[in-house]
Amino acid sequence: MHRTPHWSLEQLPDMDGAQFRQWQALLETRTGVCVSEQRQVYLQTSLGARMRELGMRDYQLYYEYVTEGISGALEWSALVEWLTVRETSFMRHRASFDCVAQFLAQRQSAVSDRPLQFWSVGCASGEEAYSLAIVMEQSLVASGQKRRDYGIWATDISQHALDQARNGCYPDRRLGGLGEREREQWLERLHNGQYRVVPALRDRVCFTRLNILELAQAPIRDLDIIFCQNLLIYFRRWRRRDLLNQLAMRLAPGGILVIGPGEIMDWNNSLLERVPDDRVQAYRRRDSMECLE
Ligand SMILES: C[S@@+](CC[C@H](N)C(=O)[O-])C[C@H]1O[C@@H](n2cnc3c(N)ncnc32)[C@H](O)[C@@H]1O
Repeated sequence: MHRTPHWSLEQLPDMDGAQFRQWQALLETRTGVCVSEQRQVYLQTSLGARMRELGMRDYQLYYEYVTEGISGALEWSALVEWLTVRETSFMRHRASFDCVAQFLAQRQSAVSDRPLQFWSVGCASGEEAYSLAIVMEQSLVASGQKRRDYGIWATDISQHALDQARNGCYPDRRLGGLGEREREQWLERLHNGQYRVVPALRDRVCFTRLNILELAQAPIRDLDIIFCQNLLIYFRRWRRRDLLNQLAMRLAPGGILVIGPGEIMDWNNSLLERVPDDRVQAYRRRDSMECLE
């Protein structure tokens, strides 16, 4: 690899059209994320940040480096950290979590003989998964149950995000949608001013790396809740539909799939019915008997 010997603050040259298309295609093939031409500057800035770290200035040489051999594969996993948008917060879209709470109020009695299973798909640094755990704990209290077994899968392509998620420490600005009492109950204030999720919630979540394009290989199924927000918006519409169809198959009968409002407009799946709540975009998997009707 051709490198200048030290980290450089020098501005990189602009990408030409062919270079942009080459990088755009690589990112989309490997992650599903589609960067439109209007966002070329974003791609260039993110790539440039990593290239400057390496002391590289040539997009073509860097492309060849990333796409060749084992060192290329290792470099790709480092680069992905620069290319993914990982913005998130606790209870980011509150109405969606209210919908989960309503669902759980019924689900807990409907499914009494097995642990409930949830999945946060594209969980970033974990706030969404912990928010689901909070809603579940609140639902247990509301239903008067002392204990009920449940577990949360939380997956993302970014190793760095998953490390942060397992650590469970957050600055104040990430606590966003939590009420004052929720903060006090579920987070401990640390000496450095950050907040750490209490062990009772951390123990419920299993964070693991998964590229959603490799969904077929994931052994996660029979879910009561699949929560997938602000991930599919970066994908082309045909891919959103394809992935949503695959996620629908992973729901247990009666389970719900919650996506972000407006994330897809023209999608139907005969296994599912829309949850009648205008504030959210959620779908319930019909029971097998309903499908036969
Ligand atoms: C904007 S965050 C959304 C976080 C959270 N779901 C929320 O709504 O607040 C999008 C996440 O999707 C992840 N991501 C992007 N492409 C992915 C892929 N192909 N497979 C799995 N995760 C991916 C990113 O790493 C990032 O953490």
